[in-house]
Amino acid sequence: MTDAFKGKLSFLKDRVTKRIEQVIVPKSPLSLYDPMLYAVSSSGKQLRPVLLMLVNEALGGDLAQSIHAAVSLELIHNFTLVHDDIMDHDDLRRGRETVFKRWDENVAILAGDGLLVMAYLELAQTSPDSLAKVLHVFSQGILEVCEGQTLDKDFETREEISLQEYYEMIDKKTGQLFAVACQVGALLAGAHEEQTAAMVQYGKMIGRAFQIQDDLLDAISQEYVFGKNIGSDLEEHKKSFLVVHALNSPYRDKCERLIKKEKITSGDIQKIVQIFKKIGTIDAAKNEILQTLSHARNALAELPANENRDFLSELIDTIATRKS
Ligand code: IPE
Ligand code: IPE
Ligand code: MG
Ligand code: MG
Ligand code: MG
Repeated sequence: MTDAFKGKLSFLKDRVTKRIEQVIVPKSPLSLYDPMLYAVSSSGKQLRPVLLMLVNEALGGDLAQSIHAAVSLELIHNFTLVHDDIMDHDDLRRGRETVFKRWDENVAILAGDGLLVMAYLELAQTSPDSLAKVLHVFSQGILEVCEGQTLDKDFETREEISLQEYYEMIDKKTGQLFAVACQVGALLAGAHEEQTAAMVQYGKMIGRAFQIQDDLLDAISQEYVFGKNIGSDLEEHKKSFLVVHALNSPYRDKCERLIKKEKITSGDIQKIVQIFKKIGTIDAAKNEILQTLSHARNALAELPANENRDFLSELIDTIATRKS
């Protein structure tokens, strides 16, 4: 990572963090606002707002224009995580207890709802010239995340999932918010149609690669590095990239029984991961990530050459190498 990109990232993240601190403040009833604050205070990577602001600047926009939509998107992302952890029965996020684990499910449902509404209040600060269009893109995007999350849950009990169905699911549950980030960044800069379409493609490909990497890390990382429960996808019978690849490979018989066991132990998880390594599933995931990212890189050619385009290119490199 170049020093210039490092500096840019930390500048943009700092702006997002400061604005979130202004927007989500402790007030009564604390049993609603404390868990909301908790969810946003352990700031994550803030990739989606960074993308929105970088795309915006790369196309001639400025931060004053994009900051509210960027912060709104980060709040929406946090809302999806709070609810996702309930659905996935996960205890750990960003190295800390999840909201529903620390409080309970009702608290987490309301904290998530509250974050979504705060996100819309923040979005409403966007200039009236573009607000109607931005509202539409955000709302459509969130609806697609709900569709993707529904498919994710439905697939847990489905026997056969093709790679194509897997991509549809992850493009919706994860790719969408990355695509929204890029589309809105372009929209607020007044970009023309081809550039906006290229940025949507860039965001979608980054999001797709990001989710495959997430599936990979869920199996092979370590809890203290990843900050989330390892093996959770296998325990929950998720149709992750790894599972879909293995079950659609000629080596299906080697792992099917273990993957489909009703109660999967940590010993089973280790065995399954060993099989994934042996039959080429881990390598297939790594290759797929790189190939998907090369599509993201191609989409950048539509942008004018400038420092921010270089940053968007550097951002691609961080996706494949991320550890948490
Ligand atoms: C987690 O997203 C949800 C997925 C789409 C895998 P991030 O990994 O971007 O979460 P934070 O905000 O950095 O913790
Ligand atoms: C994340 O998928 C998708 C959304 C939160 C919408 P995961 O369930 O894999 O995300 P993590 O691993 O819990 O962060
Ligand atoms: Mg999850
Ligand atoms: Mg999930
Ligand atoms: Mg995951």
